[in-house]
Amino acid sequence: MKLVHTVEEAQAAVTAVRSEGLSIGLVPTMGALHEGHITLVRRAREQCGFVVVSVFVNPTQFGPNEDFDKYPRTLDADADKCREAGVDLVFAPSASEMYPEGFDSWVDVNGPTQVLEGLSRPIHFRGVTTVCTKLFNITGADYAFFGKKDYQQLVVIRKMVHDLNAHVQVVPVDTVREPDGLAMSSRNRYLSPEERQAALVLSKSLAAARDAYQSGQRDTQAIQLLVENLIKAEPLARIDYVAVVDSETLQPIGNIERLAVVLLAVRVGATRLIDNTELI
Ligand code: PAF
Repeated sequence: MKLVHTVEEAQAAVTAVRSEGLSIGLVPTMGALHEGHITLVRRAREQCGFVVVSVFVNPTQFGPNEDFDKYPRTLDADADKCREAGVDLVFAPSASEMYPEGFDSWVDVNGPTQVLEGLSRPIHFRGVTTVCTKLFNITGADYAFFGKKDYQQLVVIRKMVHDLNAHVQVVPVDTVREPDGLAMSSRNRYLSPEERQAALVLSKSLAAARDAYQSGQRDTQAIQLLVENLIKAEPLARIDYVAVVDSETLQPIGNIERLAVVLLAVRVGATRLIDNTELI
């Protein structure tokens, strides 16, 4: 496995691979790798001849009062995990490598960025779509693997790829959960033991939403209320949003007639967690 830090080195590595005719799979990450990321890597490994993992805590997707400074940076451990998982190339650039002086081009997607996370985090998706475009261009990826845990991000990236006719194919991968149901996230490490326990209300309330749907409930308001009431009963949890929306547009719907998704953002103590479930 190669670990490189510059755009030039990454491009040189993938150019050599392309001339061998191998397909390139990219797993974009911000590091602090956990089993959720490794599942993405495994999917990429099954499907692609050459697997690239990018490790970059992207400053442009964090707002001024967000956790950019305290976001965990664990490159040595991440590189070990990538090596074990059979990754071919780790690309871990610095901020100045990705955004050199004079950088002034942004990729802005409308539609699904204007709701939910986009309301609480106004510059977030512009940072994500810009950095992902750069990563797709640098690596020439044929496939890019994204977890459904960040459902809105997945919808936004898919729309960007579709609208801009990007070469890459986006591959969605199911959320990986701890045995008790908590969705894996690099931010889980911020939780105290009590908060970790309280955070189970996210997956439990989503399970209740799925049960209601499977028992025939199609009214989105009723499902939303059910989830909200369960979360409100947990004293350490504070709702940022709960929404039952169309899975493609992320727009509100009344009755569920095609694939819908329940998305939620909840603060547990000082940590903001997101989770979701498709209603199937
Ligand atoms: O999901 C993430 O970790 C980030 O948003 C991504 C896709 C790596 C872009 O920085």
